[in-house]
Amino acid sequence: MAGYHRPVLLREVIEALKVEAGGWYLDCTLGDGGHSIEILKKGGNVIGLDVDPQALARARVRLGKLGGLGRFILLRGNFRELKNLLGKPHVAKAMWGKQTEPEGLRFEGVLFDLGVSSLQLETPERGFSFSKIGLLDMRMDPTLGVRALDLIKAGGRKELDELFKNLGEEKYSRAISDAVVRAREVGGIKTTGDLAELVMNVYRRAGVRTWRIHPATKVFQALRIAVNDELNGLKEGLNQVIDLIENNGHILVISYHSLEDRIVKNTFRKWENEGFGQVLTKKPTTPSDEEVTNNPRSRSAKMRVFEKGIL
Ligand SMILES: C[S@@+](CC[C@H](N)C(=O)[O-])C[C@H]1O[C@@H](n2cnc3c(N)ncnc32)[C@H](O)[C@@H]1O
Repeated sequence: MAGYHRPVLLREVIEALKVEAGGWYLDCTLGDGGHSIEILKKGGNVIGLDVDPQALARARVRLGKLGGLGRFILLRGNFRELKNLLGKPHVAKAMWGKQTEPEGLRFEGVLFDLGVSSLQLETPERGFSFSKIGLLDMRMDPTLGVRALDLIKAGGRKELDELFKNLGEEKYSRAISDAVVRAREVGGIKTTGDLAELVMNVYRRAGVRTWRIHPATKVFQALRIAVNDELNGLKEGLNQVIDLIENNGHILVISYHSLEDRIVKNTFRKWENEGFGQVLTKKPTTPSDEEVTNNPRSRSAKMRVFEKGIL
């Protein structure tokens, strides 16, 4: 079994949420529950959401062992359907003592810790990682219809070029899409390893001999974003969340690449201009050198915090 995901910017998240005993907090990306556990330990109550049933099953066991620390409700679903998920009558009922009507649900804080978990990255058959050989899948939600392999098989050369360029910011998108089209004609791409090798060969042919991050990182990122429709999901999730926050409550988003961060920055700025409250992070919070050394997966993290005003 993959080890538990190490929560990123944990101390900073807990400080920014200003967790109060008895308060309700919404963790939109539960994963292994690393952030939620700390909220529960401080006496907060948590509604945790994840689109991945494996994540939910693991977190249920892990959080269940904490016994009596705070209350938690776990829901499977995509945060792009936040209001529908929270509108289920049993959710409002479980938050008794606070509110009983779904329309009235309000949280002291909301967290989005975007991207993939260690569980997803380290399970080869989920197909997320170029360093674990598995079929190119990349669905966080296993009920989605299209896998990364389907995009690789069906995409036109131009479509693949645009996908790698727009969602991966990949410099060699044209050469990589050409190589994909050539390779698939001979049935040459099925696994994460096949694709990683293909990208590596394109880099080598382009004369690139050294790299800071694996050459396939951006192509994998582009496919993952497309398979899970991540950017639209983020916009839709954020649009719903502003109504779900108490006055003086906080919305925290940790993003891991510039496309996500741009959406967060622009949404927060728009809310500020519309008078919903204020952006507390003029510059995003990033992990300390020590955290990056201890947990290299945190290296690209950027956290932005919005505080809702008194409306
Ligand atoms: C980076 S991990 C979260 C790790 C967690 N904070 C922890 O410390 O254990 C991101 C999680 O969010 C989930 N996720 C990503 N996009 C989602 C979405 N649109 N709706 C619901 N869950 C999502 C993924 O399945 C994954 O389990």
